Parts: sequence; C-alpha cells; structure tokens
Amino acid sequence: MLERDFVNSQDFILSLKMGWTKSLYPQVREKFLAIDEDKRNEMSVADIEDLIGDDPDYNFFSWCERHLQKLKYSGAYGLHPFHKERSETLTDELREEEIERTENFALPDYYKAIDIHQQPGGVWSDPVGGLIYERGARTTTPMLGNNHKDLHYRFAETLFDSEVSENWTGTIIDLGCGFGKSTRPISEYVPKSSIVAIDLAEPCLKLGKLEAQKKQNTNIKFKQADARITGCDDESIDLATSTMLLHEMPERAIIEMFSETFRILKPGGLAVHLDFWQMRDAFDRFIFEGHSWRNNEPFMRPLFSMDLPEILREVGFTEIAITPFQEAEDIDPITCPFWRFPWTRISMSKPEQPPSRRNGTE
Ligand SMILES: C[S@@+](CC[C@H](N)C(=O)[O-])C[C@H]1O[C@@H](n2cnc3c(N)ncnc32)[C@H](O)[C@@H]1O
Repeated sequence: MLERDFVNSQDFILSLKMGWTKSLYPQVREKFLAIDEDKRNEMSVADIEDLIGDDPDYNFFSWCERHLQKLKYSGAYGLHPFHKERSETLTDELREEEIERTENFALPDYYKAIDIHQQPGGVWSDPVGGLIYERGARTTTPMLGNNHKDLHYRFAETLFDSEVSENWTGTIIDLGCGFGKSTRPISEYVPKSSIVAIDLAEPCLKLGKLEAQKKQNTNIKFKQADARITGCDDESIDLATSTMLLHEMPERAIIEMFSETFRILKPGGLAVHLDFWQMRDAFDRFIFEGHSWRNNEPFMRPLFSMDLPEILREVGFTEIAITPFQEAEDIDPITCPFWRFPWTRISMSKPEQPPSRRNGTE
C-alpha cells in the first residue's frame, strides 16, 4: 500500500467523522431538544430509546459510528494493514527497548477477551500495536484536530500549583499510561518529580519509553504492570493519575484499582482520574451507552452506573470531587452542540490520618 493512499484514506475517514460529529449528532439531538425543557429533564434513557431508537437519522448516526471506526482500523487502507505491512522497519527502534515488569505479571482475561475500540488484536498483542494506537488516537476526538495533545496538557495543568511545579520533587504513578500521552505532559510540568508509568501493553510502553528518551523526559520509568497490582511500596506515592483508564476496566477491577491506589498513596496523597462519567442529560447517556456497544468498549456502560462517590468513600478516600472537564478552550461541556466525549475529572485524597483518629474516637 502506498503511504500516500493510506494518508488520503485516513484523511477522508476523518472528514466523514467531522460530518458525523458536527452535522449528524446535532441532527439527532434536535429531536430531543424539540421537547419541552421540563419534560426533557424528566426523561430516562429508556424514554430516549422510545423517542429515537427507530429513527433513521439515529440509526445512520450509529451505523457511521461503528463502521467509520472499523474502516479506520481494518479497511483496505486501514491503520492495521498499513502498519502490519511495514512491521519490520517500524519496530526496528522499539525492539531494542527493555521494559521492566512486576513479579508474576499476567495480562488479565478481561483484557485479552476483546479487541478494544475495534483495534484488531487490541493494543497489546502485536509489536506494532502501540504505533497503530498512537496514529489512531490522533483522530479519536476529531474536533481537537492537531490540538489533541491540548487535552492531556490541560489535564496535567490541573494537577499542580504553577508557582511550585518547577521544583516539585514528589513521586507520581500514571496508571494505564498507554504510550505516555498523559505521562509526558505531567513530566514536563514537574521535571524534578519521579514518575512511574504503568500499563499492561508492552508495545505501548516501548513506544512511550522511546518517545520519552527522544523528548528527554528523563524522570519517567515505564513498567509493565496491572493497575491493581502496581508493585509499589505502601505509602510511597504522592500523586496517582490516569487518563481514559477507568472505562477500559470492568467494575470489579476498577474497585480493586482504587484500593491499590489507596494502599500506595502517602497519607495526604492525591489521586486524579480523567474519564467519561458525568453526562448533561439522558440523551447523552443514551448516546454513550450505545457508543459502548458500537465501539467495542463493553466496560464503559457499566462504569456510568457505578456510584463512584460512594465507592471511593468506602475505600477510604475523602475530598472527592467530580467535575466536567473542558478538553479545549472553545468547547463548553454543557452547551457544546456537537458530539464530544463526556470528559470528567475525578479527584480524591487519602486522609492524613486514619478515620478513627481524625474523628478523635480512637
Ligand atoms: C484508552 S488507553 C489510554 C492511554 C493513556 N492514558 C492516554 O490517555 O492516552 C487505556 C490504557 O489502559 C490500559 N489498561 C487497561 N487495563 C489496565 C490495567 N488493569 N492496568 C494497567 N493498564 C491498563 C490499556 O492497555 C491502555 O493502554
């Protein structure tokens, strides 16, 4: 396949995705907005299904969502065949990279059972998997265009006090770091920190390590580990982060991950996750429950039903704050007329002292 044909084809798919985002989605949402506001606010996901489930615009929207993604990865000029054809040369540099693992590391069954977001073989099973995911991620949120990195930098910016970040020397764990798209901005905000970036996918970790070396982010160590079994010592971490990890884990695994984070955080430590959780209305909830099926993201739907504040309190966290996250300067999470992920920032603290002592009841 000529590279030119691949690039043209991916650009074509992206332009279709823009139409889907900016024209098709508002066209479907219009049917919901046509309803009286008080009535709309009372509607459940099942009511939305009754309203638009058989609607031709909604069905075309759904069909495009699944099949544009399939075309992007598996079509004749898709990411998968393009990278597989060039596998030997593309992985030349990556082969040299060694990645440390936790003891008895094993990929969880839930992880191997599905081709997440329709990437053939997932992001873990092929040496080119990380490169395919990296190229694909550039167009996952089409409205961000070339500013896609903005999102991760904007998130990193929320984590530190800009007055002191240059000299902050704490310890950080970035859970489910992928190829380091979140880790590198964090590393740049706090260059004197010490960061361990963990993921299950070796191909992503190798790519992350190589990129970090090229960009001279010397404070990151990449490690193959499950976010539920990090291998970190008790109370050794000041800050735990994740971006887009929660929706890729089953409910039980998310709770185990929260408990592990609690174990490794120092008293007073902070955990901040960026994911998809808070939605403005039942219409968007219906759309994203559908996205979970249509895009092979089976754990996204159950995540929406989790009572995160209650679960986090049970684990022991305090100062739980869950707020919509604005992924770009000009996108308002509440009024945005176009399709966008329901980005949500979920932060929590480990108390300075065990609860009984804080309450003075020991
Ligand atoms: C959507 S990607 C996000 C990657 C990166 N944080 C970013 O924002 O680009 C989710 C990542 O979570 C990883 N993952 C899924 N389950 C995991 C687990 N139990 N432990 C560690 N990583 C996990 C996947 O391998 C994948 O790289």
